[in-house]
Amino acid sequence: MSRITITKPDDWHIHLRDGDMLERTVNDVAAWANRAVVMPNLTPPVKNVSDATAYHSRIMAALEGFPQFEPLMTLYLTDSTTPADIAAAAQSLLVCGVKLYPAGATTNSAAGVTGLENLKPTLEAMQSHNLPLLIHGEVTDLDVDIFDREAKFIERTLAPLTTEFPALRVILEHITTEDSVNFVTESRPGVAATITPQHLLFDRNDMLVGGIRPHLFCLPILKRRQHKEALRRAAISGNPKFFIGTDSAPHTVETKESSCGCAGCYSAHAAIPLYAEVFEEENSLDKLEAFTSHFGADFYGRARNDETIDLVRVDYLSPESLRFGPSTVVPLRAGELLKWRLEKTQ
Ligand code: NCD
Ligand code: ZN
Repeated sequence: MSRITITKPDDWHIHLRDGDMLERTVNDVAAWANRAVVMPNLTPPVKNVSDATAYHSRIMAALEGFPQFEPLMTLYLTDSTTPADIAAAAQSLLVCGVKLYPAGATTNSAAGVTGLENLKPTLEAMQSHNLPLLIHGEVTDLDVDIFDREAKFIERTLAPLTTEFPALRVILEHITTEDSVNFVTESRPGVAATITPQHLLFDRNDMLVGGIRPHLFCLPILKRRQHKEALRRAAISGNPKFFIGTDSAPHTVETKESSCGCAGCYSAHAAIPLYAEVFEEENSLDKLEAFTSHFGADFYGRARNDETIDLVRVDYLSPESLRFGPSTVVPLRAGELLKWRLEKTQ
């Protein structure tokens, strides 16, 4: 097959950052997505509707064309988020969900939640206003091995949460393990998961064998191959609980190639080609469109996009690096052969 046409995708999890970074992040994603769920982990975080409204304006100001592009804003859940904050978010047409970062779990998560026990009224409010909870699902206790943090989070926090709040819509973001695939598959309706290109393409050997590759370091960290294979099976399964969320997150080359490098991979410049490659390897290109363009919209209760995009099968070299204003970012698959190219958007 040399060309495929699919409904225009959305990205249900992306980091656009702010300031100098915005110009490139926003336009890279708007080139192929009509909507993107924008993560709130700025410094300081996006904590309420007024922060989200101001950030939304900065994103819109950075757009060059793409009049249809709609950033869907999220609020950063903290220990002091109130039911009134949730009611205001539910009223706002800009906010589509609230993001839970366990404190210390990942990049810019210091202001995150230290425990859900005191947030029950806030979660109640999310449930009653039908405002989804987006979760970075890792425990942060230093005694839990980094490769086990996602599985432990399910056991300790997520399983009880989905039972205690039976109507709360929950998205387990950027899943990395077979445990998560099984949990989401077996959970009640209203529990879904996003999957990134990096977790479908790579396992921990790719990151660590023969030398450390800091540009593959993201959180949750890449796991062993068995887990990558489970994620691939979930992505191509046609189960609407699994859909696209790139987690594209730019970090400058200096902050990645460092004695204490940052977590995050940039993929917004080529996300759909990267997913297409995985689906082709799995002989499942016919399942790509639902994963990238249908299931997420359905879960968030939004109309599917009317437009289409064309992908062409052609080998070409991915750039070694990308300019971000004064900075440089080394994207996912830098300098390597890519197999699909986005040809045009309508
Ligand atoms: C993300 C970032 O850089 O903001 N990093 C990452 O490794 N995925 C944060 C996140 O989603 O965990
Ligand atoms: Zn993320």
